[in-house]
Amino acid sequence: MLSIRIGNVTLPNPIVIASGPLTDKFSKIKAASDAGAGAVSLKLTFVKVPFQSQMRSYSLPGNVIISPTNKRLDLATGAELMRQVKKELPVRMMANFSAVGSAVDEWRQLAEEFLDAGTDMLEPNFCCPNLDTSDPKSAKHSDHGGASIAENPEVCSRLIGMMRGLTDKPIVPKVIIADRAMLLRAAKACVEAGADGMHVVGLPISGLPPIDDEGVPDIPLLKGTPQGSANGSICKYSTFLATAQLGQVMKKPVMASGGLDNWKDCTDAILWGATSTSICSTVMWSGWEVVGQMLAGMKNYMEAHNYTSLEDFRGKALAHFTTPDKVKLIQGHSKVEERYCIGCGKCVRPGHCEAIEIVEGKAKVDAEKCIACGVCRALCPTGAISYQQDEEK
Ligand SMILES: Cc1cc2nc3c(=O)[nH]c(=O)nc-3n(C[C@H](O)[C@H](O)[C@H](O)COP(=O)(O)O)c2cc1C
Repeated sequence: MLSIRIGNVTLPNPIVIASGPLTDKFSKIKAASDAGAGAVSLKLTFVKVPFQSQMRSYSLPGNVIISPTNKRLDLATGAELMRQVKKELPVRMMANFSAVGSAVDEWRQLAEEFLDAGTDMLEPNFCCPNLDTSDPKSAKHSDHGGASIAENPEVCSRLIGMMRGLTDKPIVPKVIIADRAMLLRAAKACVEAGADGMHVVGLPISGLPPIDDEGVPDIPLLKGTPQGSANGSICKYSTFLATAQLGQVMKKPVMASGGLDNWKDCTDAILWGATSTSICSTVMWSGWEVVGQMLAGMKNYMEAHNYTSLEDFRGKALAHFTTPDKVKLIQGHSKVEERYCIGCGKCVRPGHCEAIEIVEGKAKVDAEKCIACGVCRALCPTGAISYQQDEEK
């Protein structure tokens, strides 16, 4: 029911454990496999780690992990781990690796050694924002691996083309790109060079943490901070957008990543055109049982809609994704279901709204003044507010 296909590989379900702190050790990859993940992407690996690092982060539960520095694997360690996983565990594996864009031989060595170690898929990392060592004050373009690759379609094309010559296993480059035209250019370059799909991560790519009482960035046990990759639910809506932008034009599978915290988020990403969804922060916050909950939630959703495969609803929401000049405004206003209204007055507070007042302990909407912004419905603690379409005159 939940199985998917990427190139010539079938995954039992679309939930992929994204490369990161959950995938750098055998014990964690075993936990992912035991939890029922459809695949696991090994921690970012380099031929030789360019500079030593460990994870440090500013973390706000349910919202964001801003992580400016992370552990990475060298190729000997990464390949050995991949070999052990493929020998002992049933889970499908992706190899996530990077080098500077101009070092084609290093990319080849990484791909070859991971293929030799038994990886099921290659996931060249064209997305890591934490590798840029250029002076932050300089505007000079740089060749740093990770995110810098995706900015350059010719480099994407050269690297994917080289990997395509090595294997018929799926190649799914991972990108984070702010600009839509650039995203589509990178995807086109990758697919034309032979990629079997694209793994896309939602924005904001990077951020800076807030400041603590001493006036320094609030990242424990770190002195000085570069920009840090920003992960978690702050990325969700941008993940939907990038997925839909690719889903509209790409015939190949899209893997969506960023802020997909529960079964509903993953299902929504599929409705926006994703074939699979990759997750990291939600398991970091809530543990491995999230995977089972996601699978159960998706199955319930599919049964309720009589869907027998993910293809039955993949991309269904794309029919509603249009340009601003083509949307149609439906005339209507909010209405209050009096029996549920507790008269708390939360709906009266929004500064821009002149349509609601509390009369005899109940919210009352002036339909003429309501601009249907949606804020009162979101604020109502009892779900008493909904929207009503005006009758056609
Ligand atoms: C601490 C940390 C380390 C990460 N390391 C990697 C990495 O090595 N390679 C990679 O492609 N993505 C890495 N990511 C990004 C995740 O794979 C994922 O795409 C991103 O966190 C968005 O998903 P989420 O919102 O579910 O966390 C990392 C994320 C975090 C939080």
